[in-house]
Amino acid sequence: MTESLRGVGYSLQSAIADVIDNSIEAKASNVDVCFQHGDRSGSSNWVRIADDGRSMTALRATEALRYGAEIEPDLDRDVYLSAFGFGLKTASTSQCRKVWLAARQHPDRALIYPRLLDLDHMRDTGEWETLEYKTADAPEALVGPLRERPGTVVLWQEIDRILDYADPHGFNAKKGVDLKFQKVEEHLAMVFHRYMSRTTKPKHRKVTITLNGRLIDPWDPFCLDETGPEGTGVCREAELKVPNSRGSGMAPIKVVGYVLPRRDEFSSPEAWNRAAGPKKWNRSQGFYFYRGNRIIQNGGWSGVRTIDEHTKLARIAVEFDHRADGAFDIDIAKGRVTIPNDIKGSVEDVVDAVVEAARRRYDRRASRPSPGPGPGPGPGPGPGPGPGPGPGPSPGGDVTTADAGSAVRDSAERINKEGDLDAIIKDLRESRPDVTDALGW
Ligand SMILES: Nc1ncnc2c1ncn2[C@@H]1O[C@H](COP(=O)(O)OP(=O)(O)OP(=O)(O)O)[C@@H](O)[C@H]1O
Ligand SMILES: [Mg+2]
Repeated sequence: MTESLRGVGYSLQSAIADVIDNSIEAKASNVDVCFQHGDRSGSSNWVRIADDGRSMTALRATEALRYGAEIEPDLDRDVYLSAFGFGLKTASTSQCRKVWLAARQHPDRALIYPRLLDLDHMRDTGEWETLEYKTADAPEALVGPLRERPGTVVLWQEIDRILDYADPHGFNAKKGVDLKFQKVEEHLAMVFHRYMSRTTKPKHRKVTITLNGRLIDPWDPFCLDETGPEGTGVCREAELKVPNSRGSGMAPIKVVGYVLPRRDEFSSPEAWNRAAGPKKWNRSQGFYFYRGNRIIQNGGWSGVRTIDEHTKLARIAVEFDHRADGAFDIDIAKGRVTIPNDIKGSVEDVVDAVVEAARRRYDRRASRPSPGPGPGPGPGPGPGPGPGPGPGPSPGGDVTTADAGSAVRDSAERINKEGDLDAIIKDLRESRPDVTDALGW
């Protein structure tokens, strides 16, 4: 049973995000993610997620590692990210065989409660038990962060799924693990961007997340800091409802369709490149599902339509909370949703409007060179700032160098040759920095 739960559908990044959900729910302001990849197998290889939230009592710490731990209904929460009472265990064991947890609530006394969920122990004894440890007998990597302040630490040891290489400490593994954590950084920057930039609710605290001590910068898929007539425009909004699966009545859904600026409208080539996001420009179009203000699915059209270069400026936020879990058919890893039948038609209306406006904004670049009056592109449907004219190809069809640079980058993305282009850019940066500057690289 425990072994089969290991395959529940987490990636390293989604597993870490699930653990951080608990930290945010516990009102943490700081979450530190660290990993250590030693030169040989053993306890020098670990991943740690430490927060400064309100943590747990000794009893609760033991409970927290039990599968299906009952969610306290009366808990004073201002954020509701939990769903099943499984996250900490299933996310952790998808990556490792030993899950440590340490809790400290007392601000003045370093009373720390270390706990361990050990898959090998469970296999050998057939018992599903949480082992309780004294602080002195627990790994220093676990209890160290709690010597100074209260909070909760989760430590993964025997990270077999992360060190899944023929030589887990060789060159390929080192390179591979670094890459995996780059993905972790991109993922956390996206998933928790609203918490990190404090754009959830005024009463919420700002959450900072660090990776091996380095602050992670939030990534907003809608680039709302691209403002002004050339910035991101809200194209269409809808307030919808589905049945409340956690009580009576209905649960609210908000759908907001955005049209992002074109490449030539972005404030800088760097901002355009960053806006591509973890899936790159084309596959980043489509839906962003937010559950409790954290992203649970990013990009793609969930079967409503297909990815299209001409509609890549269209991104749509679909926001709901735990009351709509049933309708969206949330899975245990909270990484996949299904659009409820009841609202599909209304969502498709928003999609049609946003896609149409995005296509026009994209195409306007091609039609802009014709100077003077004429049947120019009309304003996008719906309220909000429509896309306006701006710099870009000059009249007569000339292409600016920055535009050319971006077009080459887009092309590399379309044919999956970004790695090759990056190598070219790296070389050019050294040999011809004037060229990379001109091309916006
Ligand atoms: N960092 C933390 N700070 C405080 N309490 C925590 C922390 N991590 C876990 N807990 C407690 O342990 C319980 C179990 O966590 P777990 O992630 O397994 O389930 P859940 O969050 O309730 O539901 P879900 O399956 O959606 O994650 C939580 O409900 C919470 O009470
Ligand atoms: Mg949880």
